[in-house]
Amino acid sequence: MAEELNIAEGLSKKEKYEALIPQIEALVTGEPDLTANLANIAAALKYGMGFFWVGFYLVKGDELVLGPFQGPIACTRIRKGKGVCGTTWAKGETIVVPNVDEFPGHIACSSDSKSEIVLPAFKHGEVALILDVDSDQLNDFDATDAEALERLMRVIEGLL
Ligand code: SME
Repeated sequence: MAEELNIAEGLSKKEKYEALIPQIEALVTGEPDLTANLANIAAALKYGMGFFWVGFYLVKGDELVLGPFQGPIACTRIRKGKGVCGTTWAKGETIVVPNVDEFPGHIACSSDSKSEIVLPAFKHGEVALILDVDSDQLNDFDATDAEALERLMRVIEGLL
């Protein structure tokens, strides 16, 4: 396992993802523990991409329960269909929210959060966990984030 991330200065967002995702794959290779892997992925995304808040919610019964994350403390439990995370779970698809104040039912864990992207990972055809990335800037996520993070979700599905 690599001891540190190696992301060059001055890269575009797309280039950062392209540098980071193979390093994340190397980081989790050979480690069977899901919590350890999700914790390192959250840290790699936080420090590799400079995200404000990044973390996982795991499906447990009829709720999402907070998993490994990096950033300010967050809500611990979210019901299916509630907020951006619960809606991503219910729909089974990526949701990009340019302005959280305009998303009906958005759950404000931090008043500093302005935009977010949430993506599902599947096990046996069901959503098993979601990745939530929050920004303190409006309109911070686009198709580049969705495409790269969806690739990462397929890597994560290999760990489930
Ligand atoms: N904003 C999310 C809740 C999770 S936190 O932002 C970390 C939502 O509406 O589902």
